[in-house]
Amino acid sequence: MDLPILVSSDLVVLRRYLASDVDRYVYWISHGEWRFFNAPWCGYRTTTTADQEQRDREWFAEKLGSSDSESYLNRRAVITTPDGIAIGDVSRYSLDNNPYVWYVGIGICEDDYLNRGLGTEALRLWVDYLFTISDVHKLCLETWSFNPRMIRAAEKVGFVPEGRLREMRLWQGEWIDSTPFGLLRREWEARRTGA
Ligand SMILES: CC(C)(COP(=O)(O)OP(=O)(O)OC[C@H]1O[C@@H](n2cnc3c(N)ncnc32)[C@H](O)[C@@H]1OP(=O)(O)O)[C@@H](O)C(=O)NCCC(=O)NCCS
Repeated sequence: MDLPILVSSDLVVLRRYLASDVDRYVYWISHGEWRFFNAPWCGYRTTTTADQEQRDREWFAEKLGSSDSESYLNRRAVITTPDGIAIGDVSRYSLDNNPYVWYVGIGICEDDYLNRGLGTEALRLWVDYLFTISDVHKLCLETWSFNPRMIRAAEKVGFVPEGRLREMRLWQGEWIDSTPFGLLRREWEARRTGA
């Protein structure tokens, strides 16, 4: 069996999902500030009924058991503190069947752990990990003008702003811009080697 820890630093650990994560996973679905920043127009839960929770648990167990590397939980990693507290997760996904480009996502789902540098560090580790284990050419990250914290974290990791799609969403009475970022493999390598 693969070891659960993918990559770690003094601040955070990224590891595979384990069966014991189900309680926190189910809790995060209806708790935390993260829900209001992660495409909230797609809908977010404020409560979970017993029936929903049962379905969430079954869904989690099914995904966890999948041997498909592209299955939902196999494209994600749990972010934990060095002493093992699960605080959120990172993800990757592809668009348009493009094998050369992956998109990444991140959420610190435990509010007490926001704004402590842990999200930036987790994103940095995830980027290092993804470029190391794949031959993908580019990593992309899509966020929005209403999320300056994500924008700043992306910049700190070395993502390059790739323009601005103006007024793509009407959210809570305001038009917000899509703010795409990208990081080429050679840019990542140059940062690593200090070139
Ligand atoms: C985005 C996220 C991963 C960042 O991680 P974090 O641990 O909270 O943030 P960090 O402490 O690593 O860094 C945040 C940076 O943004 C800056 N920042 C925070 N709020 C800000 C604001 N309102 N305006 C501008 N900058 C801001 C911080 O000062 C810090 O930059 P600095 O180190 O130069 O001072 C985390 O906040 C999160 O998961 N948010 C909710 C979910 C989400 O937004 N996901 C992304 C969806 S696209």
